[in-house]
Amino acid sequence: MDVAKKILILSILCMSMTYYLEIETPLTQSVLSWKKRGHYFKYKEHSIYFLKQTNDSPKTKSSLVLLHGFPSFSYDWAKLLKNLENYDKFEDIITFDFIGYGLSDKPRNHLYSIFEQANITDALIKHLKLKNVHILAHDYGDTVAQELLARWNKNEVTDWNLQSVCLSNGGIFPETNFPRPTQKLLRLPYLGSFLSKLMFYGAFRRGFSEVFGPKTQPTEEEFQDYWSAIRQQAGEAISYRLLHYISERQENKERWTNALVSSKVPLHVIYGPADPVNPRGFIEFYKNTVPNSEVTVLRDHISHYPQVEDVEAFSEAFKNFLNSQ
Ligand SMILES: *[C@@H]1O[C@H](CO)[C@@H](O)[C@H](O)[C@H]1NC(C)=O
Repeated sequence: MDVAKKILILSILCMSMTYYLEIETPLTQSVLSWKKRGHYFKYKEHSIYFLKQTNDSPKTKSSLVLLHGFPSFSYDWAKLLKNLENYDKFEDIITFDFIGYGLSDKPRNHLYSIFEQANITDALIKHLKLKNVHILAHDYGDTVAQELLARWNKNEVTDWNLQSVCLSNGGIFPETNFPRPTQKLLRLPYLGSFLSKLMFYGAFRRGFSEVFGPKTQPTEEEFQDYWSAIRQQAGEAISYRLLHYISERQENKERWTNALVSSKVPLHVIYGPADPVNPRGFIEFYKNTVPNSEVTVLRDHISHYPQVEDVEAFSEAFKNFLNSQ
């Protein structure tokens, strides 16, 4: 092939990549209705999407805040919110999209960090004037919950009270966390940034499918729901930046493990044992490291998204934990 042809092919490739990054994949009907149920609030100059489900006659003056995982968004909690519709313990249940995820802003040259996500959570709680807050988290959200717990233990939280923390399948300890091959590739210097921009539906679908159990796979529509949310503001192009949390977990291992060990509030973990990201060794490690916490292990085939894969059992485990406090 002569040089001219090579240059031509390369330019076509680059042009299609640029075009792809600039067009938006429209939201699916389900995600569009999800968006319409919620609102936005400003954190610095960024718009953050949140959704609040209110109970008219709550038994206690407390709220539940749900923190989602990577690479998904608040929609992870849609089934649980439906399940808890008539649950009268909380005045309101709130979920939101972290910056860089789902329907929230995705600034390009931004240093995404767990500390900032914790600040955003704190800002939203203050914005909504919540007073007594229970946190239920998953995956990436677990790390944010650990940071908030660290602050609470050190009396650094102002204006609201943390009541309890419930985590679920997440990289709580770097020792028992095994990032997926795609996550490893995207973390490579320079190449990661390039590969992020080349991410397309097929690659996403394959990777996402691997973290669900074989019997509890998302439907084709659900894969598309998640993808359409990632594609807002070309979110796939910053995934290598979001993955910064993997090195943050290593750097702050002591702070975030200690937050659990010396927790001043009740703790619980709900665990889907077929999780390839946090395989079975995790639960033994957790029990030994955090003896002050209770755990619920779900059925053998439940994997990395327990709140989606088995919402009934997940919700029951969470309610039992609240009742035991
Ligand atoms: C989070 O908030 C604290 C206190 O306001 C501030 O000192 C810190 O710089 C913030 N961190 C990030 C990453 O925004």
